[in-house]
Parts: sequence; structure tokens; C-alpha cells
Amino acid sequence: MTPPTALVTGASRGLGAALAEALARRGWRLVVDGRDPARLAATVAALPRPDLVTALPGDVADPAHRAALASAVPDRLDLLVNNASELGPTPLPRLADLPAEALERVLAVNTVAPLALVQAVLPALERARGVVLDVSSDAAVEAYEGWGGYGASKAALDRLTAVLAVEHPALRVYAVDPGDMATDMHRAADPDATGLRDPADVVPALLRLVDEDLPGGRYRAADLAAEAVR
Ligand SMILES: NC(=O)c1ccc[n+]([C@@H]2O[C@H](COP(=O)([O-])OP(=O)(O)OC[C@H]3O[C@@H](n4cnc5c(N)ncnc54)[C@H](OP(=O)(O)O)[C@@H]3O)[C@@H](O)[C@H]2O)c1
Repeated sequence: MTPPTALVTGASRGLGAALAEALARRGWRLVVDGRDPARLAATVAALPRPDLVTALPGDVADPAHRAALASAVPDRLDLLVNNASELGPTPLPRLADLPAEALERVLAVNTVAPLALVQAVLPALERARGVVLDVSSDAAVEAYEGWGGYGASKAALDRLTAVLAVEHPALRVYAVDPGDMATDMHRAADPDATGLRDPADVVPALLRLVDEDLPGGRYRAADLAAEAVR
């Protein structure tokens, strides 16, 4: 039987790498990206079945790269994970000091690219009655000082996710807030934070959205892990 296929963006480190590893352990075929080719290659080489992985270095904000990702996807796509994301300038500036170009970049990566990827692979997702997982953040719903640009990009992603879920009832479309994790992104935002979760510990919650037939919508990984959701 042909194994299921997932396209996971930003899979060279952090949460994307942890999720890619879990899917690879299940025998899934993967299409993955990340901008740094060496880091992406090293991460893929360490996966259980690198032969089942297509690694395409590139920037999700680049339409040509997105087209390459879509071309690498087979006829049926079981899972699209829009995980690649940028914080914008650090230390995180107050909105009064956020350059317009920096906001445009964050929106291009965190909001526009995920929708464009959905559009690019929609027929393959529909053939598989697949799952879209858009990785959001609590910054989408909480007003944290300094997080306005990134938070706005994730709030807009949440809205796109919610409307896509309504417009494509044959798919399962989710936004998920993974919670705070010990990753490069979190270190860039808050170098002094301690006690953060390993991204691998968040993966089981995300896999619930893949495995179970939960209604489309926005979820918190903490709620999924606590089994409060059904
Ligand atoms: N860490 C947290 O506490 C936290 C909390 C809430 C939500 N999140 C969300 O969780 C997701 C994963 O975050 P993380 O903490 O694992 O981040 P991370 O450690 O910074 O990893 C980000 C991954 O995405 C890739 N990437 C970044 N920009 C990209 C671009 N423009 N095009 C293609 N790939 C790109 C990175 O590789 P390259 O740099 O080589 O491109 C890397 O593989 C993100 O959506 C983030 O917003 C994280």
C-alpha cells in the first residue's frame, strides 16, 4: 500500500523537525523545506527513512519555491503543515517602531505563504480528503507588548484557517497553538526563558488532529494533550 504523504514547511529544526521525525517513524512520505540547505540536509539525513523524503531548500515567501513544493507532492496529499514562520525583527519592537517592510515580510511568510500553499496543493489534498494544519500562536489572541506584527500575522492566519474550514468541508482544516517551546524562535524572542517544553513533547497533540476526526477549527496543543477535546 502507498504510504501517506505530508508536506511540512520549516522542517529543518524546532517543531517542524520534530513532527517530520514522528511522521517518518510512521513510514510517511515527506516533502519538507527550510531556507538553510545544509541544515535541512542534515535534519533529513537523521530521519528514519531519508529515502522517503523530498527536501527542497527555499523560502515559503518565494512563489517559485512554493511551485517547486507543489510539484514534488504526489497525486494525493494527506497532510499539509504550514509550520515555517518568522518573528520579524528582534528584540521584538513595539508597534510604534515596527518598520512597514518588516511587517510586510512577516505577513508574507506567516500568512500569505500558507494560503498560497493550500491553493497550490488543493487538488491533491481534496483527492486524499486530507488535513491542513496551520501552526498558530497564543500571540494571535493575546496582546503581548512587542508581539504585534507576528501576532497580527498569526491572527490573520487563524481567520484564513477558519474560513478555509468552512469553504472546504471535505478537508479537515485546523489552526493549532503549540504553546511555548524551547526552540530557536523562542530563544530569539526571549533568550532568558526557562522551563520550556521540548517541541517533540508537543507532537502527540498535533498528531491527534491528524488521526482523529475532530471538527475543523482552532485548537491549543495543551488542551489536546490534556484530552479535554473531543
Ligand atoms: N517556539 C515557540 O514557543 C512557539 C510558540 C507558539 C507558536 N510557535 C509556532 O510554531 C511553529 C514552529 O516554530 P519553532 O519554534 O519550531 O521555530 P524555529 O525553531 O525558528 O524553526 C522554524 C523552522 O522554519 C524554517 N523557516 C523559517 N522561515 C522560513 C521561510 N521563510 N521559509 C521556509 N522555511 C522557513 C526554519 O529554517 P530556516 O531558518 O533554515 O529557514 C526552521 O526549520 C511556528 O509557526 C511558530 O510561529 C512557536
